Amino acid sequence: MTLGSLVTNPRIMKALIVLALLAYIVSVWGNLKSIRMVNDEEQSKKIKRSVEEVIAPLWDKIHELELGTGPKYPPVKFLSEKDRKRILITGGAGFVGSHLADKLMMDGYEVTVVDNFFTGRRRNVDHWLGHGNFELINHDVVEPLFIEVDQIYHLASPASPPNYMYNPIKTLKTNTIGTLNMLGLAKRVGARLLFASTSEVYGDPEQHPQPESYWGNVNPIGPRACYDEGKRVAETMCYAYQKQEGVDVRVARIFNTFGPRMHMDDGRVVSNFILQALQGQPLTVYGSGSHTRSFQYVSDLVNGLVALMNSNVSSPVNLGNPEEHSIMEFATIIRDLVGSKSRIANLPEVPDDPQRRNPAIEKAERLLGWRPVVPLHEGLNRTIAYFRRELQLQADEYRPRARLARTRHQPLHRL
Ligand SMILES: NC(=O)c1ccc[n+]([C@@H]2O[C@H](COP(=O)([O-])OP(=O)(O)OC[C@H]3O[C@@H](n4cnc5c(N)ncnc54)[C@H](O)[C@@H]3O)[C@@H](O)[C@H]2O)c1
Repeated sequence: MTLGSLVTNPRIMKALIVLALLAYIVSVWGNLKSIRMVNDEEQSKKIKRSVEEVIAPLWDKIHELELGTGPKYPPVKFLSEKDRKRILITGGAGFVGSHLADKLMMDGYEVTVVDNFFTGRRRNVDHWLGHGNFELINHDVVEPLFIEVDQIYHLASPASPPNYMYNPIKTLKTNTIGTLNMLGLAKRVGARLLFASTSEVYGDPEQHPQPESYWGNVNPIGPRACYDEGKRVAETMCYAYQKQEGVDVRVARIFNTFGPRMHMDDGRVVSNFILQALQGQPLTVYGSGSHTRSFQYVSDLVNGLVALMNSNVSSPVNLGNPEEHSIMEFATIIRDLVGSKSRIANLPEVPDDPQRRNPAIEKAERLLGWRPVVPLHEGLNRTIAYFRRELQLQADEYRPRARLARTRHQPLHRL
């Protein structure tokens, strides 16, 4: 059969026409489909674009609102994961611990504060709550703690006489069992531990100023023994763990420290005088006021603690300000800085009140390159500003009062 005969065959011709029509319909349908797909894609792109256009300013607004009303943290340095140590501060909601937490947070470390809030306050650290590098744990160091850390600053302990004498057994437990627990943790996780000891380990010293080599003169059964002996045995524990278990320890013997967030009614010279001057009360000086004291500002101490922790000095180091002033000088300086008209009232001497307490800081200078730098007046002005703010905040609530000491002629005087 030739092509001509095929074309002339009407049945075959019909079949060919039907096939051609079918092919045409299929190709048109295919084209239509691809056109619709292109249209759909364009359509969805268009919709996406317009949705994005509407949403973008909303995101900006949300971000703006977050910045405006969400927590604003102090600026924090960025550290790579390798350098970002995990640091535990026991007693970190207290006076010194909260300033240390501020420094370590701003330096970019991960900080865990552990505190039982006996003398500390959440308010001291609440400016960090919610920050990704910060954690606050309500925990008593007398109970064991299981966390992973690289460094431990062990500061948990009441520090002022009224606080540590309030429950002497608990003070002993905190400094003994609490320190054992923290040394156990340091051993388990291979962390370095810095213990916050005190100048009170020198007791009523027979040597001035007191170098680290001085063994002290402590009454083991006196009212302060729960603190003094608690700190002394805690130092002993640190060196036993170092010797027997290879724990890396640092011991800071801290001398009197002052600054914002210190306890307003802890009965110490600086807080008493500031409170009395601000409240227009007489500034109480025991005895002639010729005995001397030396105080360091809290930021100096914090820098010393960090320098010691990161040094290779494992024997005890004094951290304090050797600049001595008589009590009478302190009273007049503080009264003048406050701008108060309070008079100075001389009361009878307090028994066992040391005539002098003064740190020898040559070791810290030589081995840590550390010495206090904040001038007394500057530190006092910042502390007075803090006391003023606190008094305004507490105006309708509890009003702190300066604590009076027991004197020779008034043994039942309010402490
Ligand atoms: N401030 C000073 O002048 C001074 C001087 C010498 C030594 N120190 C030492 O420095 C450290 C800090 O002193 P501070 O002046 O900040 O005192 P602070 O009372 O303000 O702080 C101590 C913190 O430890 C917490 N704490 C107490 N017992 C605890 C326990 N069992 N478990 C968990 N937390 C507990 C308290 O709640 C508080 O937050 C103390 O170890 C103190 O002995 C301070």
